[in-house]
Amino acid sequence: MTPGRGQTAQVLAGLRGHEAGRQWPLVLERDGEVVGRVNVNDIVGGVFQNGHLGYWIDGALAGRGIMTAAVRATVDLARSDLGLHRLQAATLVHNTASQRVLERAGFEKIGMAPQYLRIAGEWRDHLLFQRILHGRDNRETKDPA
Ligand SMILES: CC(C)(COP(=O)(O)OP(=O)(O)OC[C@H]1O[C@@H](n2cnc3c(N)ncnc32)[C@H](O)[C@@H]1OP(=O)(O)O)[C@@H](O)C(=O)NCCC(=O)NCCS
Repeated sequence: MTPGRGQTAQVLAGLRGHEAGRQWPLVLERDGEVVGRVNVNDIVGGVFQNGHLGYWIDGALAGRGIMTAAVRATVDLARSDLGLHRLQAATLVHNTASQRVLERAGFEKIGMAPQYLRIAGEWRDHLLFQRILHGRDNRETKDPA
């Protein structure tokens, strides 16, 4: 499949962000085709050591536990390769599938952010989740069973 101009622009922006150390763009691939994405965006160092997580998967492959596995793998990468302290994710209030993915990958809900992101021209409320990757003692936090 040939990627559209919008997708090409997104990939190029992701690669530029990666080179600058601001972004870690990942793809889910099946038979040579991209069927999903997981991104660690807005990576900040210093006293924050934080990244924002975003993801999607082809609807035909949804509901098979693939994104739960992908987010868990990204948590490992963010902790061990990127050395981050924390990941944050935001979901639309009604996006229960995404909330379930985060809960199963060990994220905790930290609250509701009114008018957090502009989606399709409208500022929408989001639930915020975080996963602490290194505890107060700087040891790695455990994954849920
Ligand atoms: C959200 C999304 C990434 C989930 O991917 P996935 O591969 O289907 O996720 P998994 O199969 O690992 O887990 C989905 C969980 O949500 C549950 N679920 C799926 N649809 C649901 C629904 N409509 N209502 C409630 N729960 C739902 C599944 O049962 C599963 O939980 P379970 O294993 O406890 O039964 C995928 O649906 C998607 O790409 N959506 C569009 C983009 C998006 O919303 N991205 C996230 C932005 S925050």
